[in-house]
Amino acid sequence: MWRKLVLLVAMSLLVTVFAAKIEIFSWWTAGGEAEGLQELFNIYSKLYPGVEIINATVAGGAGAQAKAVLKTRMLGGDPPDTFQVHAGHELIDTWVKTGFMEPITFLYKEEGWDKVMPKGILDIVSYNGEYWSVPVNIHRANVLWYNKKIFEKYGLKPPKTFEEFFQVAEVLKSHGIIPLALGTKDGWEAAHAFETVLIGKLGAEGYRGLWNGKTKWSDPRVTDALETFARMLQYVNSDHAARTWDEACALIVEGKAAMNIMGDWAVGYFYAKNFYDFGWVLAPGNEGIFDALSDSFGLPKGAKNRENVINFLRVLGSKEGQLAFNIKKGSIPARTDIDKNLFPEYQRSAMEDWLKHEIVPSVMHGAAASESWVTEFKDVISLFVARPDVKTTQKALVSIAKAQGVPQ
Ligand code: BGC
Repeated sequence: MWRKLVLLVAMSLLVTVFAAKIEIFSWWTAGGEAEGLQELFNIYSKLYPGVEIINATVAGGAGAQAKAVLKTRMLGGDPPDTFQVHAGHELIDTWVKTGFMEPITFLYKEEGWDKVMPKGILDIVSYNGEYWSVPVNIHRANVLWYNKKIFEKYGLKPPKTFEEFFQVAEVLKSHGIIPLALGTKDGWEAAHAFETVLIGKLGAEGYRGLWNGKTKWSDPRVTDALETFARMLQYVNSDHAARTWDEACALIVEGKAAMNIMGDWAVGYFYAKNFYDFGWVLAPGNEGIFDALSDSFGLPKGAKNRENVINFLRVLGSKEGQLAFNIKKGSIPARTDIDKNLFPEYQRSAMEDWLKHEIVPSVMHGAAASESWVTEFKDVISLFVARPDVKTTQKALVSIAKAQGVPQ
């Protein structure tokens, strides 16, 4: 009797220890994000039904909370099997150069991804002649979303320039509508909007130069961007500090606010809420420019379920995975061999723009600068929202760039 019991307990312990699992770490919890992730899980589970998926999410847009949790786990020798990371500096500087990842060049060769992804994307997941993560999408950061019904009701045209933005905002305000929805709860959303103002004022070349020293942060166009942003902040909802990015999008859905500057995960949110009365233009002054970022996943050294990760990465890079995920997520595939007609209207237009617009890297989402620079940039802009002092803020931006070793 006792022997049987001990045997049973030992067996069940073995099953728990060796049961096939994969822990997937991300911050995809909001409307659109969660649905996109679920699509990937569905495909994976169909192919590998015996593997239990542990969906390790930490809520907070742009990884506001997830990145800190990830750092603690990685430094503590407890990496998730795979984790969401922005392609570019965030991947390479934070995790690759520091020796935390395994190269996955063999997977690129086996799956032929280097033949179906554009050079610009392959470059930002490469280091030392190896590939380090699989990009699952391309997001666009510089979009102005608007509620079509409100614009129709007041006979307004979506603004393309800053001047038009302020004209439209005045009219909306006079009718008691919040002109620009904003959430600043997670500390990154204002910096996201400001990134698009920098692009709008400096153009693609000038904006790119901010991150490599060709444009100085003391440039009068940066002053103009700060002044303009301070003016824009006069048209946002007063409860912005209590709202996250998706709660700001909710104001558009509810018809309380008319516009919102956000990445195209916002469209994933709108779909998830069955809201289709939205329109989009580029953020003011951003005509012809695609402010880009990419979510990717890699293989951390010491991943407990290495084989399962490799198979999950295969799904991420596959045509089927990229199609199902991006339809829900609002982004476009990193692969260029997927028929755009399979996507909703917004993504079709983004896929066209991706091929013809000038591409700049998003700073707020890890593509343009190291994580320490991004953190300081976002903190300074958060302070600016509370106290829009142009001189002090510009000085701080100059000092941050200097501290990053970029001559000013
Ligand atoms: C990510 C998106 C995500 C957004 C909001 C961005 O940094 O790249 O995938 O939807 O944050 O959470």
